[in-house]
Parts: sequence; C-alpha cells; structure tokens
Amino acid sequence: MIKSFMMDKYYFIMTYGCQMNIHESEKLAGILEETGYLPAQSVADADIIVLNTCCIRETAEQKIIGHIGSLKKLKKNKPALKIILCGCMTQQNGKGLEIKEKFPFVDYILGTHNIGDLRSLLSGGAGGVFVEDTDGYINDDLPVTRTSMPNAWVNIIYGCNNFCTYCIVPYVRGRERSRTMDSVKAEVERLVKEGYKEITLLGQNVNSYGHDLNDGTTFAKLLNLLADIPGKFRLRFMTSHPKDFTDDVIDAIASHDKICKHIHLPVQSGATAILKAMNRKYSREDYLALVAKIKDRIPSVGITTDIMVGFNGESERDFEDTLDLVEKCRFSGAFCFIYSKRKGTAGYNMTNIVQYEVKKERIKRLLALQNKITREENKKYIGNVFEILVEDINDRFENTYCGRTDCGRLVNFKSDADIRNKFVKVRVTRGATATLWGEVTEVE
Ligand code: 5AD
Ligand code: SF4
Repeated sequence: MIKSFMMDKYYFIMTYGCQMNIHESEKLAGILEETGYLPAQSVADADIIVLNTCCIRETAEQKIIGHIGSLKKLKKNKPALKIILCGCMTQQNGKGLEIKEKFPFVDYILGTHNIGDLRSLLSGGAGGVFVEDTDGYINDDLPVTRTSMPNAWVNIIYGCNNFCTYCIVPYVRGRERSRTMDSVKAEVERLVKEGYKEITLLGQNVNSYGHDLNDGTTFAKLLNLLADIPGKFRLRFMTSHPKDFTDDVIDAIASHDKICKHIHLPVQSGATAILKAMNRKYSREDYLALVAKIKDRIPSVGITTDIMVGFNGESERDFEDTLDLVEKCRFSGAFCFIYSKRKGTAGYNMTNIVQYEVKKERIKRLLALQNKITREENKKYIGNVFEILVEDINDRFENTYCGRTDCGRLVNFKSDADIRNKFVKVRVTRGATATLWGEVTEVE
C-alpha cells in the first residue's frame, strides 16, 4: 500500500558500441527494474540516466563526451537526477577520475568489472568513481531485462587474451573467462522455453571459448550441445577469430540446421606484414585458405568481416593486398574502419603512422569495392526462397517487416498481418546495396 504513495521513478540507458554493450545494458536495466525503476520514454523524463560507453575508436569517445556535456543543463534543472557512467570508456587507466574532474555533475562512474555495484549505489550508497583494477569476474547472476525479442543475447566468454596491437579491449575487458557449458545450456533452455527464437552467443573471440576452463570444454562441443536442445530456434554467434577457427567448429556448423550459416570473421588487413604488426597471428594465405575451406564445407555460408585501413606502416601496396583479398573472399558484408590510435595499446607508440588524408582516401576505395561486391552478391539471391525469422517492423515503409536469412542477409517484405517473431518463407525479388526485398510465400 505504501507503494501507491510513492512517485514512480524512471531510467534511461544510452548504449554505445557493440552487441556486448547492448546485452550489458539489458543487465543494467535488469538491476534498475529489480530496484523498482521503470523505463523512461526519453532522457528528459528520466530520474536516472546511464551511459554505457565504448572506447574502441576516438570518434566513439568524442561522441560520448559530447553527450555527457549536453546532460549538464538537465542536471542543473533537476538536481535529483542521477547520472551514471559505465562501460569500456570508464575502465581505461585513470579515465574515471579524469571524467569526474571534467564533468563533476556525473554522480557515479563504474568500470566494466563491477556493474553489479549499481545495486548498492541505488540503495543509497555514496557517489564517486568505482573502477576496479582486476582481470575480471563473471557477472553471471545479474537480472536481465531483454529488449531484443525474438533474439536473445547470451555471453559465453568475457574478456580477451589476444592483445591485437591496435585494440583497447583486452585492457578494458580483462582476461578470457568462459562460463561453463552447463550454465550456458541452462540459460539457452530457459530462453527457448520463454519463446526466444534466435540465440546469439557473444564473446570477443568465441573460438577460444573453454580454453581457460582446462577441462576439455571447446566451442565446438558447446555448439553441438546447444544445437541438440529441442524446439524451433536458431543459434548465431560472434565474433570469431581466424587463428582459432578449428575444423570441429566448421563441422558443427555444417551438421546442424539450427546453427546459422553466417560467420563474422574479421580479417582486419589483407597484407601479411600488417597482420604481423597487428599481432593477429595469421597470414593473408592462412585467412584465404580458411575462407576457402569454410565455403567448401558450407556452400550456403555468408561470411562478413571487419577491415581496418591505415594501420601504422600500411603502404599503398599493403592496402592493394587488402583490396585484392576483398575481391577474392567476396564477403557478403564488411564493417570498414579507419585506424584510430588508442592510448595504452602497443600501436599507440608506433611511429610509422599513415596520414589521415591517405586513410580517408583508402577507406573510400575500400567501401566502393565492398558495396559493388555486396550488390553483385545480392543479385544471386534473387528468385530464391529463404526461411527468415521476422525480427521487426521496418517503419520507414508501410506494412513492412524485416528479418535475416540463415546466412545473415537482411530482407524487407510486406505483410498486412503482424508477423513479428514468426518464421516465414520469403522469395527474394530485388536487392539494393545493404538490403534485399522479397515477398512472403509462407508463414509458420
Ligand atoms: N581503430 C579502428 N578500428 C578498430 N577496431 C578495433 N580497434 C580499432 C581501432 N583502434 C575495429 C576492428 C574490430 C572492430 C570491432 O573494431 O576492426 O574488429
Ligand atoms: Fe581486440 Fe583482437 Fe581481442 Fe578482438 S581479438 S577484442 S580485435 S584484441
């Protein structure tokens, strides 16, 4: 009864960066809702604003810094408003204190290893900077408010041991920690029972899943175990590291209908010398051989990638090797980035930097090539029928829904009935650059 006299309290979470962060925000929402907070429709309506940050590139950090600055006025007009910062940006060495000094109106700053501490802060703990310097724990027991039905994100491994020389992630996410197969299986079983139809397994490098458990656990074993769970659902996973992509994983993908034939396999560069400088531990030839092997074993596979241009020492010839690899692999999609130096990484101290103008010119050429390939590959889908899980409404068009094929291609299609969360059969009728269009031929 006392409750009816209390004012409702609202939270708003701003999420930056990758799928890991999107899922972590679902855990933050879980904690907030457990404490009685409700989701706000906008920042202005919130009593608590959480910024779940990213620092993979400088542009990401600049955007967040801009957003923090813009909250100052809101806080001034509403002093009871609580502003909380967490995520990768805050975990960087000394960054928490630096932010607090620059933006004193931020109430709490948490690191990546202690988002569970949000609970004590909500129950009246003092404000300040709480960033733990540790290799990390497994935050396995936090409540989760899922926001991406029919897809559910499931962490299988946290952290990264690879120390690619451009990458900040190992410094802000700690060492690799795998959940046990039993704990992942129990979560997936529960999610399937709850009606989730797509489970996406998450890790910085899913292929090294289990190595740290030293009990014979491997990613392939996990895939086989999860694919045997009864019910109609799909399994996806990301991200894969080419150096750890073993044959038993290829076999698992090939032999289970439930495992989507989509592999996100970041190459980063097509030049062996640059891959070496990046500490990627595979050569151009290794990568090409792996792609050939995967395509041979799984002919319907869609392979997507991440590519960086302008890493330290990248010559025009090295860049042309990247273009050539892109031609050869014919990725169904690629995320392309300009290298951005990150303090604390080995790349930060390298002196053979590539001028920004050169980087800009290279990314333009790379994008033009990949867009041409995506268009050409999309044409090959026209006329074929695919099973698609309807994920959402595409509100840019009337009565339009969207979802992905098993091999990861996004398709739009019209329907008068609400077909969200259903499996449908769609015949592809035309292909634009990033998206395909089709017509529904069957609904489950
Ligand atoms: N600069 C630019 N891109 C980066 N990535 C990681 N670190 C950097 C950086 N310092 C890219 C890589 C990675 C993707 C998630 O982000 O391509 O695969
Ligand atoms: Fe970063 Fe490399 Fe680890 Fe990926 S594998 S998170 S790129 S260090």
